[in-house]
Amino acid sequence: MRTSRRHFLAGSAAVGIGSALPVHLARASTPEIHARPGTAQIAPAKYAPTKIWGYEGTVPGPTLRVKQGERLVRRFVNELPQASTIHWHGIRIDNAMDGVPGLTQEAVQTGDSFLYDFVAPDAGTYWYHPHNRTWEQLARGLYGALIVEEPDPPETDRDEVLLIDDWRLTEDASIAENFGAMHDWSHGGRLGNWLTVNGNGDYRLDVKQHERLRLRLINTSNARILSVQLRQMAGWIIALDGQPLETPESAGTITLAPAQRADLIVDILAADGGEAFLASAEGDSGYAMATFTVTGRTRDKPLADPAPLALNPVPAPDNLSSARLTDLKMEGGAMGRMSSAMMGGKMMGIRDLVGQGKAWSFNGMADMPADPLLSAARGETVRIRMANETAWPHAMHLHGHHFRQVLDGGKTGPLRDTLLVNRGETAEIALVADNPGDWLLHCHMVEHSAAGMMTWFRVS
Ligand code: C2O
Ligand code: CU
Repeated sequence: MRTSRRHFLAGSAAVGIGSALPVHLARASTPEIHARPGTAQIAPAKYAPTKIWGYEGTVPGPTLRVKQGERLVRRFVNELPQASTIHWHGIRIDNAMDGVPGLTQEAVQTGDSFLYDFVAPDAGTYWYHPHNRTWEQLARGLYGALIVEEPDPPETDRDEVLLIDDWRLTEDASIAENFGAMHDWSHGGRLGNWLTVNGNGDYRLDVKQHERLRLRLINTSNARILSVQLRQMAGWIIALDGQPLETPESAGTITLAPAQRADLIVDILAADGGEAFLASAEGDSGYAMATFTVTGRTRDKPLADPAPLALNPVPAPDNLSSARLTDLKMEGGAMGRMSSAMMGGKMMGIRDLVGQGKAWSFNGMADMPADPLLSAARGETVRIRMANETAWPHAMHLHGHHFRQVLDGGKTGPLRDTLLVNRGETAEIALVADNPGDWLLHCHMVEHSAAGMMTWFRVS
């Protein structure tokens, strides 16, 4: 399956017989996606463009679109100076296509490629990103949106994808290279100092009054939890993490932990000459993340409230009370009580762990355990109770499945693939383990997962 990139080298002897034909013709039937260095104007124009890593050398990478139930085929070609993979975040995917080095595939070395070929069973807003040295590669700009289109999309005037990222830039607008900083890894992760939407620090869209937009928000930050508010727009949340809500919810403050998505329907309220905003509501002040400049009007009055999207074919967990319960204890980090954890099969003190780049543990283990957290029979309903005994919030992401949070009184929350578990909180999730394979469960503050917050489960 793997091919080297030698065939791209003009005049290379490796091309051999048939080299009279342009090589790209021979491969024309398989679309490719290249990860490579590039530049992007993410800071204001007075700065030089920033050197980034991007899919097709751009940030964000190309928005990939596929219809629900159809196949996505991309040959991933790695032109980065490091090994990489692509993880298709939130897709209930064939395990072999999940992009996890050491678990589902080998990391793709520089100059090598890997054929991703899978069916997207659920409509919604997803994204793709590397799963090798994610704490560096994601911070350098490697990500893009993957949109799975509904057969019958809701009535809107436009559909806009907004990838929100948090960059750590130096004074000359280069990406700060202190990726492995242990202080970040043991605290809140790599937090940045420059927010962009679609790679733009001053993202603007021209709109009309009463225009109806679908906004697909994706938090691609390494570690920042976003708080988003709408100004001069009426809005509803119609889906979270790609999965439709049974009833659209009026949008107040929308919390987006790293990797989470929210699909909104918004109606522009501001009149001709005015502005509407997506505002970041961190702390007591807010600032504009995206500005919508209003010229003219689309219709005399807003459309009627939106109808729910059709649900995806995700099985519902049943018999929760008799389902097997697995505990996951999350420990470590600054201001935590963890003094030791298992690593490489040995008990190690916190100093030695930190020396190995570890600061957190799951069930007392600071590295990927040899055995799965749980082994489920295919189709079994399982519950995982995650106890956050750290002083930090964590964005827990499960691969290959969507789950529901089990709430008080046996109620369940919306389907999600990433759940924010606040400090000191215990959150229980339930799912039908119907997708065979080995799947990660980790914190999506990617410094935390690299520093110990990673485990896996098996469905067979
Ligand atoms: Cu978005 Cu394990 O990843
Ligand atoms: Cu975390």
